[in-house]
Amino acid sequence: MEKERKKIGILTGGGDCPGLNAAIRAVVRRGEQLGYEIWGIKNGWKGLLGKTEAKRLSEGDVRGILDKGGTILGSGKINPLKLENGISQIEGNFKKLKLDALVAIGGDGTLCVGQKLSKSFPIIAIPKTIDNDVKGTDFCIGFWTAVQTATEALDRLHSTAESHSRVIVLEVMGRNHGWIAAYAGLAGGADYILVPEEPVKMDEVFKTIKERIRKGKKFSLIVVSEGVRLPKSEKSQGDSGEHCGIGNEVASLISKKLGVETRSVNIGHILRGGTPSSYDRIMGARFGILAVELIRKRKFQQAVVLRGDKIAAIPFSQIRGEKKVNKEVYDAAKIFFH
Ligand code: F6P
Repeated sequence: MEKERKKIGILTGGGDCPGLNAAIRAVVRRGEQLGYEIWGIKNGWKGLLGKTEAKRLSEGDVRGILDKGGTILGSGKINPLKLENGISQIEGNFKKLKLDALVAIGGDGTLCVGQKLSKSFPIIAIPKTIDNDVKGTDFCIGFWTAVQTATEALDRLHSTAESHSRVIVLEVMGRNHGWIAAYAGLAGGADYILVPEEPVKMDEVFKTIKERIRKGKKFSLIVVSEGVRLPKSEKSQGDSGEHCGIGNEVASLISKKLGVETRSVNIGHILRGGTPSSYDRIMGARFGILAVELIRKRKFQQAVVLRGDKIAAIPFSQIRGEKKVNKEVYDAAKIFFH
């Protein structure tokens, strides 16, 4: 097969997550096989704003990174759409670097910029975010590792909560959605899970805990997703009203209402770090390989996605918008709320 010369840029934008390096490695390795030059853009869109920050990547640069968390390219949350001339700066740098295509690995924000740029440049998007809230794909890179980490946290909290007969509230990330909370809560045997997609019924939380105590189970584990907001009527009296973390708020309400010893733990960015699960590495590799294949076929303005166990490409326009937590999984977790 005659090798075609192409120069491909690759960047990771938004919050980092485990599995990004597997995708970068796949793009570099597959791209090199096809004779392409792969250029790593540093720190998300920032690397294409003002003075470019880009580096040629070859096999040696991606050796030994498969099991590493984070991203060897660095990431950033800068949104060029909010900067004056942001998009035109990127367009200028794209031309200056003589890129034939760009692989943008990111969540909602990155994909939104990609979509805007895709009007002028050949772009392929790869969805990643521990929040798993990108429409059009069943799962995003990073989600399953975060679920595993949150599940492990619940397992550990279980024994300490039980030893001390306490209620422990675990707050997890997820932005405006409850994917991590619902999946980890089901896996870790949470006694109640609060997600932004469902109405907050604190009375049910109190009732569940009371009922458990009545049955001799003196401890409970409650999972709350960071995007949950308490209804005004539930805001704890005496609190300043400032948002001090939903986990703390829920724990304080429980302790005031039931008089039980309560603790709250927020595992925040721990969910974004560490060794990627095999699932995320495999998904990263498959997404990366497909992204290069789409470039080879000149099929641009596409996002690679997972549907069941199949990977596919869909037009960029179909990946934006809200993706609520899988209700069937939340309902399954509810069966164990007692
Ligand atoms: O979108 C990923 C995410 O980790 C969210 O779950 C969280 O709300 C946010 O990013 C945290 O962002 P930062 O890294 O800016 O604190």
